[in-house]
Amino acid sequence: MPSSQTTPLDPAVASDLQQRAIAVANHAYAPYSKFRVGAAVLLTDGTIVTGCNVENASYRLTVCAEQAAIAGAVSLHGPKIRIRAIAIANLNDTASQPCGACRQTIHEFSMPNTIVFFPGEKGAIAHATIADLLPAAFRLSNS
Ligand code: THU
Repeated sequence: MPSSQTTPLDPAVASDLQQRAIAVANHAYAPYSKFRVGAAVLLTDGTIVTGCNVENASYRLTVCAEQAAIAGAVSLHGPKIRIRAIAIANLNDTASQPCGACRQTIHEFSMPNTIVFFPGEKGAIAHATIADLLPAAFRLSNS
């Protein structure tokens, strides 16, 4: 269960994760919003899996980058994955926090020290634990 304690990530690893999030944002399919997003998930075994947003003409079927990356990670590595960190980037030079649905999706595979990096103000990279971003996550009772 996530709590708000933070364990710093190696700066070189964090930088690599950020670069991968930017790189995969170039693959985004975002003809409607023009908001291209990439996410890079670092798993506890050191594996990195990336994903981008994939929009749809029906709008509501749009898949966010975080959800694409996590679905890919589960598909590739199975249901027991745990996220050490996730970096989210966009190509629009815009401060942007992960949406509520993505926070819930990240939470599902998180640990107490899972860190979320996202675009902050004035080009800064902000970070927070998933517990700070989603302190009242939905949980099924008894799970
Ligand atoms: N988007 C993401 O990929 N992640 C988020 O956390 C928020 C929004 C995408 C969805 C849509 O394609 C575009 O950004 C504009 O909302």
